[in-house]
Amino acid sequence: MPLPQQTDVLIIGAGAAGLMCAAIAGRRGRHVVVVDHANKVGKKILMSGGGRCNFTNLHTLPDNFLSANPHFCKSALSRFTQWDFLALVQKHGIPYHEKKLGQLFCDNKAQDILTMLLAECAEAKADIYTHCQIEKITALPASESPLRYRVHTSLGETLCESLVVATGGLSIPTMGATGLGYEVATQFNLTLKPRSAGLVPFTLSPAQLAVFASCVGNAIEVRISCKDDKGNEASFTENMLFTHRGLSGPAVLQISSYWKPGQAVQVNLLPHLDLEEHLRHQQQQRPKVLLSTVIGELLTKNIAQIFCDLWGEQWNGNRPLNQYGVKDFQIIANQFHYWQVLPAGTEGYRTAEVTLGGIDTKDLSSKTLEAKNQPGLHFIGEVVDVTGHLGGFNFQWAWASGHAAGEYC
Ligand code: FDA
Repeated sequence: MPLPQQTDVLIIGAGAAGLMCAAIAGRRGRHVVVVDHANKVGKKILMSGGGRCNFTNLHTLPDNFLSANPHFCKSALSRFTQWDFLALVQKHGIPYHEKKLGQLFCDNKAQDILTMLLAECAEAKADIYTHCQIEKITALPASESPLRYRVHTSLGETLCESLVVATGGLSIPTMGATGLGYEVATQFNLTLKPRSAGLVPFTLSPAQLAVFASCVGNAIEVRISCKDDKGNEASFTENMLFTHRGLSGPAVLQISSYWKPGQAVQVNLLPHLDLEEHLRHQQQQRPKVLLSTVIGELLTKNIAQIFCDLWGEQWNGNRPLNQYGVKDFQIIANQFHYWQVLPAGTEGYRTAEVTLGGIDTKDLSSKTLEAKNQPGLHFIGEVVDVTGHLGGFNFQWAWASGHAAGEYC
């Protein structure tokens, strides 16, 4: 079906941010058309949270977002909060639960969230077109007419007053990710912040992988840290998983957003314990027990053995505790609390959950998400240089920025 010849609002991208924006703008009485090049809308919603969509986080704060301007996200987040989204979920009777750390997931399927957004769009009379390729966008010369953009697509040409770009980031190209949003920004002279894969597993060198081969599939709780761009320490205490490519799990995904190539990350393998004190105590209680046995009780047996082999040249973990001195315990504790790992790289956009960087927020209004130099052109969601931590924060940004633009486009 061809697109209408003109509309009030044209939204490119029927993902999380685009659908939210369409529902809000449509409810204001704007005629809204949403176009997407994919065969289905909301694909990332459907695959999110392991199919259950971690749709928001009860503890959402501006501190949960990375951006060159950490203040930019505050306005939109405060005008459409996690409680507002939750109210919508409850209005639609969608069963949900808190998994941990304020992370809200659907009890059933992520499809519930997509169905809810589509119902909101239908109620707001927004029209959605799939299989629609964007061919060319031109700004119309200023005139009496409120129409400001001409968009050529594979479904025909349409004129619009407001053009909203909600094309997401570069992660998972097989799910329809493209760089169109960045190209449109460049066409209209907006600045781009460098982009890279975020919330992504680390890869290790073949030599490192050989060391950890026997604990692939094992996970332990760690505190993982590295320095951010400004030299401040970022740190997360969560699970780390050994994989056949390297390291993954929530702790690793979180720190990957702060990591720069060539940088080492620091891993505290026993974040809830003072190992030196524990070993001294155990030495008094159980002097004949092997060091590797005691460490195996704290980590898994498998993981303990690997680290005992890795560092054991200095202190041979297969001796009873009564054969170690105070200095030995200090060295051993230091190694387990301050393991320095040098990742070879990351798995990249192929598996990343998000794209860091993007459209520079200095070129956008924090109130309307409209380009300061280009009236009627809005950018929302992941395409903007605002990236959330793992845990429902990226969707909350998509809802909040979609809502902010939807109020004004
Ligand atoms: P989104 O990617 O949702 O939508 C962009 C839309 O634009 C797509 O429909 C795409 O087809 C369309 N598009 C792209 N290029 C186009 C073009 N050239 N022409 C026309 N259309 C185009 N976050 C979270 O908070 N909780 C979670 O549980 C998860 N889980 C998760 C799992 C996985 C595997 C991934 C990859 C990501 C997550 N995320 C997440 C992140 C979350 O999915 C992401 O931040 C939001 O979907 C971003 O919303 P947007 O609307 O900006 O982009």
